[in-house]
Amino acid sequence: MREINASIGTDKRLWQEDILGSQAHVTMLAAQGIVPQADAEAILAGLATIAAEYAGGGLVEDIALEDIHMHVETRLAQIVGPAAGRLHTARSRNDQVATDFRLWVRRACAETDAGLKALAQALLVRAEEHAGTIMPGFTHLQVAQPVTLGHHLLAYVEMAARDRSRFADAARRLNEMPLGAAALAGTGFPIDRAMTARALGFDRPMANSLDAVSDRDFALDYLSAAVLTGLHLSRLAEEIILWATPAYGFVKLPDAWSTGSSIMPQKRNPDAAELVRGHSGLLLGHFTGLAATMKGLPLAYAKDMQDDKPPVFAAHDLLALMLAAMTGMVESLAFQPERMRAAAAAGFSTATDLADWLVREAGVPFREAHDITGRAVKAAETAGCQLDALSDATLAMIDARITPAVRDVLSVEASVASRTSFGGTAPANVRAAVAAARERLA
Ligand code: ARG
Repeated sequence: MREINASIGTDKRLWQEDILGSQAHVTMLAAQGIVPQADAEAILAGLATIAAEYAGGGLVEDIALEDIHMHVETRLAQIVGPAAGRLHTARSRNDQVATDFRLWVRRACAETDAGLKALAQALLVRAEEHAGTIMPGFTHLQVAQPVTLGHHLLAYVEMAARDRSRFADAARRLNEMPLGAAALAGTGFPIDRAMTARALGFDRPMANSLDAVSDRDFALDYLSAAVLTGLHLSRLAEEIILWATPAYGFVKLPDAWSTGSSIMPQKRNPDAAELVRGHSGLLLGHFTGLAATMKGLPLAYAKDMQDDKPPVFAAHDLLALMLAAMTGMVESLAFQPERMRAAAAAGFSTATDLADWLVREAGVPFREAHDITGRAVKAAETAGCQLDALSDATLAMIDARITPAVRDVLSVEASVASRTSFGGTAPANVRAAVAAARERLA
């Protein structure tokens, strides 16, 4: 029973939050005349001693004491004596743990946000550096149209901004205080929940005592934001892995972010990127696990809910590592602009530019322009060259309306430079978007 019941191995990470919660609670109990001021002061001093002990030497785990709440309370009794027993007046471990955990997740949201901000900053540096670097843009992983590397990297800056807004949203929504719900029904003591809420930085006490002790939406909010962040990091990791293969050769992994093979001396493996991709799957597992734990629970508290902390702690730690590793990789990837440009030029990637030119300059309906361009691509394929290497005569033979002026759009440089629509890939757009994103970050 002791072994299955104990959670101290995990919830010891809540010790600071547990002590903060107790300090706020006993201060309020004294202010309301529920415990004598002298006892409250002794309890506060004892809690400060315990905080110093834990901060200095950690905590000695005892599974007979079950969880962090019992550890702190037991130690408090050793320091303060019988007056320590007044601390648990008008509360239960049910509202206590929900409060502690919310405080912890609130801090986790801020930490994760800082990691995302650092990643966005690293991406912006590289995007600015490569505002004019041409690479193939893909659909179906087939070369589609040329884009700029800066534009590609900025796509991940957008994702990071949405991720940050999800953590901010989670932090805002969780910021209501369960403490004072007691076991499930509230309490008959004349507590002042607004006072404890203020002391702990909550916006307000939770409105329903049953909801207060049984809600774990805040943990799932954190995990779901983590899942989406992980999904984005995984896509970027996958691109780094692909781009670093000799077949692509778009990027060289720095030594610091790759590993060698134990038997193949030439290998430079993208282990960090692969682990970011892999860990994102674990994050999804943590969300799924807690969602499954919660879905069948009747109100209010049930011990199943003790399983809420391991997935959140694990997800937080994984995500912190993933963000740090991805930021490090982004900062130090050696992009290979020649390889990227060559791949962009190789796939008839300016075919759409030719079709658009026919529409714009010769008044050809788009569908017809599409057919004409198809013939030009076929001619280039037969000749074994790129579109801009077809002669003026060949182009005019395909359609008389194609004049030498078309050369303005057939190169990959001309193609990307022309894409100045809002949100488009032109180097000028990328520079403006970097500036705008920097302003938002600041
Ligand atoms: N360790 C418990 C948890 O994390 C604290 C709440 C225990 N409450 C109870 N009634 N047994 O859920």
